[in-house]
Amino acid sequence: MRHVRKLIFIALTTTALTACGPPLPPSKPLSELTPQESAGHTVYVAHCARCHYANTDRSLHGPGLQALYKQKYLPSGAPANDERVTAVILRGRNMMPAFGDSLSDQQLENLLAYLHTL
Ligand code: HEC
Repeated sequence: MRHVRKLIFIALTTTALTACGPPLPPSKPLSELTPQESAGHTVYVAHCARCHYANTDRSLHGPGLQALYKQKYLPSGAPANDERVTAVILRGRNMMPAFGDSLSDQQLENLLAYLHTL
């Protein structure tokens, strides 16, 4: 299993390299998420996945979110920190809808914890 994962990783890395620029740092595997991160993944699937890929920086309707916090800047050029990401989630941005009314504080916290694993 380990071996297979390693091969997949190499294949993905090679694809990323030939596509453009250096590969993104890998995300934490779903099987290793803490309970909070896992709860955040559920929120992500319910509210964000229809517009954002989590496993690439390629766009769907919005930018892919892999390595969101591992890079210095968000796609918009704003600093990649919780304050900024929270503001985007709660208030929306251009074509992205606001989630201020649909997420509880706990769901938001869980979601941020998950986004940090990407
Ligand atoms: C209907 C589609 C849609 C949904 C649903 C959506 N987004 Fe977005 N998101 C977008 C678009 C489009 C952008 C690009 C906005 C812009 O900068 O013009 C974006 C941008 C972002 C950004 C980058 C902001 C920046 O400053 O560069 C983050 C982070 C983000 N979304 C997170 C989320 C999260 C987390 C969720 C789930 C709660 C979510 N989005 C749900 C469409 C969506």
